[in-house]
Amino acid sequence: MKPFPVFEKVDIAIERALGCFVYDKQQQAYLDLYGGHAVISVGHSHPHVVEETIQQMNKIGFYSNAVTNDLQDRLAERLGNACGYPTYAVFYSNSGAEANENALKLASFHTGRRKVLAMSNAFHGRTSAAVSATDIRSIRAPLNDSEQFVFTPFNEISSLKKQLETEEYCAVIIEPIQGVGGIHRASPSFLQEVRAICTKTGTMLILDEIQCGYGRTGRFFAHQHAGIEADLITVAKGIANGLPMGATIISPKIKPVMGQLGTTFGGSHVVCAAALAVLDVIQKEQLIDNAAAVGEFLLTELRKIHGVSEVRGQGLMIGVEFENDIQHLREELLFSEKIFTGYAGRYTLRLLPPLCFTINHAETFLKSLRKLVQKEELADDVSVY
Ligand SMILES: Cc1ncc(COP(=O)(O)O)c(C=O)c1O
Repeated sequence: MKPFPVFEKVDIAIERALGCFVYDKQQQAYLDLYGGHAVISVGHSHPHVVEETIQQMNKIGFYSNAVTNDLQDRLAERLGNACGYPTYAVFYSNSGAEANENALKLASFHTGRRKVLAMSNAFHGRTSAAVSATDIRSIRAPLNDSEQFVFTPFNEISSLKKQLETEEYCAVIIEPIQGVGGIHRASPSFLQEVRAICTKTGTMLILDEIQCGYGRTGRFFAHQHAGIEADLITVAKGIANGLPMGATIISPKIKPVMGQLGTTFGGSHVVCAAALAVLDVIQKEQLIDNAAAVGEFLLTELRKIHGVSEVRGQGLMIGVEFENDIQHLREELLFSEKIFTGYAGRYTLRLLPPLCFTINHAETFLKSLRKLVQKEELADDVSVY
């Protein structure tokens, strides 16, 4: 048997990692500005997370959700305080898609409504309702195409208002910064207006913070820059620094009903121990402030690079759009400069480094990027003659 080949892969096998670096089999180091797709929040193989996880595995890694798990309670309390939603509840799952699936279901159970309003260019995951709310035609199977899911232009309030005023929608779901869609920020005024319309029309506001949350933008949640609160917030990726975990954070106005949601693996002892250790590190090493400061430095310096048409994002979630196709540039960054980056479309580099990324790391990256951009420009000039 072989893995089902659905990913385009780079031919580098990562064997180990530490901090902001990953290493291949030949022990070649690569600076990681991709963070395993925004998953590595506190740095690879962080000793505190490793230690707490191993200790927990030696005690118990998993038991059913049919018994009390104190770690779930401890994590809920710590997370509630850390993220600024101490009165909300949390439902644990195993991935971002599941976190969104549960948020959408809760919104529908709570309101009794069927329709969902999602944004143009949105990405919310690949399970049933999550992919129906995802604006990428090619990843929606025919069975996921549903008239209950309607798309409205991102950052455009009038059509959203018109839809929600029908009072047919259980939820509107928004990424405060679209990731897969190309690092586009929802403007604070858009989020504030959406909040007001949701309150007026009894629609649940779901904010998908799976990629942009957990400290990445310099606040715990990206939507907190707009000074609003959501009814449901979804997180995953960085929550357990690479162990599979998702969570749906739920307003007290949504009451729990026994048996309505469920999961076998969600909130296991070992992932909760890892997630608690992640919160320890985020706080002890002040990684949210670090993300803000290093992100600001990168945003400023990237804007000065010739050939860059736009730099978007906030904190350590950055999109660098170029005038030309970036495929060759990314390959050069990876194979010559030994730097991992992500991408969104053909023209945008997507940077999602661990939150412990330093100014020194940023300078190393900028130096390589400037050098390659200049080299490509020279090559272009020569080809003119
Ligand atoms: C904004 C957003 N929502 C949801 C998901 C889906 O998360 P997962 O792949 O863990 O299911 C992703 C993954 O990239 C994402 O970026």
